[in-house]
Amino acid sequence: MPITLSPMTPGFACEVGDIDLTRPLPDDTLAEVRRASAEFAVLIFPSQDLTVDQHLAFASHFGPLERSVATVMPGEVLRVRPEIADIANLTADGKVWGAEHRLRLFQLGNRLWHTDSSFKQPTGRVSMLYARSVAPIGGHTEFADLRAAWDALDAPTRTRIDGLLAEHSLMFSRKKLGFTDWSEQERVAFAPVARPLVRTIPESGRRSLYLASHIGRVRGLPDDEAEALVERLVAHATERRFTYLHRWRVGDLVMWDNRCTMHRGTPFDDTRWPRDMQRATTSDAPDVFEGVPQARPAAQHA
Ligand code: OGA
Ligand code: MN
Repeated sequence: MPITLSPMTPGFACEVGDIDLTRPLPDDTLAEVRRASAEFAVLIFPSQDLTVDQHLAFASHFGPLERSVATVMPGEVLRVRPEIADIANLTADGKVWGAEHRLRLFQLGNRLWHTDSSFKQPTGRVSMLYARSVAPIGGHTEFADLRAAWDALDAPTRTRIDGLLAEHSLMFSRKKLGFTDWSEQERVAFAPVARPLVRTIPESGRRSLYLASHIGRVRGLPDDEAEALVERLVAHATERRFTYLHRWRVGDLVMWDNRCTMHRGTPFDDTRWPRDMQRATTSDAPDVFEGVPQARPAAQHA
């Protein structure tokens, strides 16, 4: 039986039905998902009942599994396997965390518009976020289509930014929240990497902005000009006409293409409501940005 597609927004977010992600997928089904993902950069798979292994097995069709950034944070007790990014607001013993929890400040960064792992080498390709429990109010996730945003950009801006290189680091995004307390090991792991502001997505041939709160500098521009430029591009790319707001239900798996989207979590009372979300992210090919000159060798993330 073929999968069923039900678009939520024209050409960007789409629900996918008649697919059971607990089972190994036949090649033709996988090919249909790939085609859908080239057209719709956000795919929603409702009512899935997944084990961690099944979640990871589905993700691994879209590239090698990343290890979560928490694995390079000394002293963190991981609730989950290193291939899963723990997006929950829970302590290692499963309780809702308190206001002072270190990972809480860190996770607030997810409320800034970003794309996953633009600061890693290789960069992130797809993410799959799975809802095990959801907050009764708030805690949605918003997505922005950076291909449509590129398409709608005025010609002078396109000409100005095509070919510019931005520097991305997790330290830049977290600094915007006042988080600067990094260990030496983290500083090495999160040293800035240079990425083009505009890229082409091979499966669709579409051009896309490549933006994130992880950007802290643009090569060749003074810092204040770079900041104003990136701020203007992010404001443009996140206009309502380019976005989709996902309201989570337990069992939703949402897959997005990090190469041509941004996302952000919307606020909720994270010291009150448990919200248990787990993410698998895959890496893009290591040579995608080959030839982009780096200031220093990019840190390799296992
Ligand atoms: C993520 C993320 C936002 C959210 O999982 O990468 O940014 O709403 N999540 O939890
Ligand atoms: Mn994210």
